[in-house]
Amino acid sequence: MEQTKHVLLIISISSLLLSFSAEAICVPKNTTRQAHPPARLPSIRSPPHVSSPPRLPVASHSTPFDPAVNAICEKTDYPSLCMSSLAPFLPSRNNPAALLEMAIKASVNYTEAALAKAMHLSSDPSTSSITKAYIADCQENYSDAIDNFNIAANAISSGDIGLMNSMLSGAISDFQTCDDGFAEMNELDSPFKEMDMKLSHMASNCLAIAALLP
Ligand SMILES: *[C@@H]1O[C@H](CO)[C@@H](O)[C@H](O)[C@H]1NC(C)=O
Ligand SMILES: *[C@@H]1O[C@H](CO)[C@@H](O)[C@H](O)[C@H]1NC(C)=O
Ligand SMILES: *[C@@H]1O[C@H](CO)[C@@H](O)[C@H](O)[C@H]1NC(C)=O
Repeated sequence: MEQTKHVLLIISISSLLLSFSAEAICVPKNTTRQAHPPARLPSIRSPPHVSSPPRLPVASHSTPFDPAVNAICEKTDYPSLCMSSLAPFLPSRNNPAALLEMAIKASVNYTEAALAKAMHLSSDPSTSSITKAYIADCQENYSDAIDNFNIAANAISSGDIGLMNSMLSGAISDFQTCDDGFAEMNELDSPFKEMDMKLSHMASNCLAIAALLP
């Protein structure tokens, strides 16, 4: 049946993507240790860091950043996204737990922006009905991701790493499923492709910061 094929395809693509990204995502980056060959995900990973000069200006933000925050962000796979997404939340404390809380807030905020875009597109009369059906799925995935982020944020105080990991991985899978729906229909380009990629990277950074919790 068409429906079953549809579901199986989604499941196989998502699990492929998940297993593909899990090892890259869950291990905080440590440039001094080369246990694994670098750059397993050349298309979405930033190039491996080779000890950058300390006073090189960072292009994505101009304000001087707390070196402790910098040190934590450097352990994620997307350090400049980590810093630029945390900057508006002006962390008053810079320990991993406080930063994880802000990184999750930034992720929720951006997921809400994706949700707003989905609502806007689905109320646009020029959007085709097939596209609207996929957008409706994405809306569910975004709401689910927001729930996951909130549960992960609440798990910080109890230090429940297992729960945080499963909620944050679940959010990544939500963003990927949204795109998988469109990818299945060759003629449809996901209107959320870039947002979903950025959201997956933000959630990946949350996972890396969570791994630094005591
Ligand atoms: C990276 O790993 C090396 C060897 O395991 C360790 O000595 C070093 O302190 C680590 N660096 C950071 C920034 O965690
Ligand atoms: C929240 O997301 C919106 C839309 O992307 C962005 O313009 C705004 O700067 C974000 N706010 C914070 C505090 O990150
Ligand atoms: C995304 O939403 C669709 C539609 O509700 C659902 O079938 C799918 O399981 C969701 N994906 C995830 C990872 O929850």
